[in-house]
Amino acid sequence: MAAPIIRIDNIVKRYGPLTVLDGLSMEVLPGEKLALIGPSGSGKTTILRILMTLETISGGHIEVDGDQLYHMPKNGGLVPADDRHLHTMREKIGMVFQHFNLFPHKCVLDNVTLAPMLTKGVAKATAEKRAMELLDMVGLADKARNMPAQLSGGQKQRVAIARALALSPKIMLFDEVTSALDPELVEEVLNVMRKLASETDMTMLLVTHEMGFAHDFADRILFFDRGKIVEEGKPDEIFRNPRQERTQTFLRKIIAAGHRV
Ligand SMILES: Nc1ncnc2c1ncn2[C@@H]1O[C@H](COP(=O)(O)OP(=O)(O)OP(=O)(O)O)[C@@H](O)[C@H]1O
Ligand SMILES: [Mg+2]
Repeated sequence: MAAPIIRIDNIVKRYGPLTVLDGLSMEVLPGEKLALIGPSGSGKTTILRILMTLETISGGHIEVDGDQLYHMPKNGGLVPADDRHLHTMREKIGMVFQHFNLFPHKCVLDNVTLAPMLTKGVAKATAEKRAMELLDMVGLADKARNMPAQLSGGQKQRVAIARALALSPKIMLFDEVTSALDPELVEEVLNVMRKLASETDMTMLLVTHEMGFAHDFADRILFFDRGKIVEEGKPDEIFRNPRQERTQTFLRKIIAAGHRV
């Protein structure tokens, strides 16, 4: 079996007196599609933001693609990572958020080319060629010169996915990317993610309340509660036969709220 591309080892995350992640450990294999589910406030967004180096950690270690994320080697030991190390590591990971965060004053094409040109020094022509391929992949090549305000929510979210992919990350993180969308726009975004899953070998971690999608998409489901992984397993095991009472209660509530499982 391949070595894990992500190793999360005993991560603690505190905000002041509040412990949000309480000794969280998990591993993700290269190419694995993982869905993180669980109640509001259980720490799902926090762990994705930590992987994206948007947070600090209060304890523990994370290894991504063979290197420490928040630490770096020095004199035979590990010291906290400096900005340069974090910057290098960040290029391995892309993230798409619930709210699209596109640059409002830049056209779709510029939104996708900006990061490769600024952070990787990619030439404009090269960045634009790649951006057009990605926009084509998400079905928006014809919108390249539009401004974000001229797009629907689903289209904006597809641009956000193309933008994250432009840096060629090995790992993609998706945090409730369809939650802010009108129901009729959800499917077009899920379709892009299905396509990514089937056409690339990218490692994908997804936080979602779309249990039907999680079931079809994920190789493995992790159920979070109060900063811990309470239960994990294959989608059929978790959705059809949850062992833990907390998982059962959560799924009952989700189904009662009208979500398909
Ligand atoms: N910047 C912050 N300062 C203080 N507390 C925070 C901060 N960010 C998150 N928290 C707290 O951390 C806990 C976990 O939050 P997180 O956003 O990870 O939950 P979640 O599982 O993503 O929930 P949801 O399903 O509602 O998105 C919550 O109790 C939240 O209030
Ligand atoms: Mg969240």
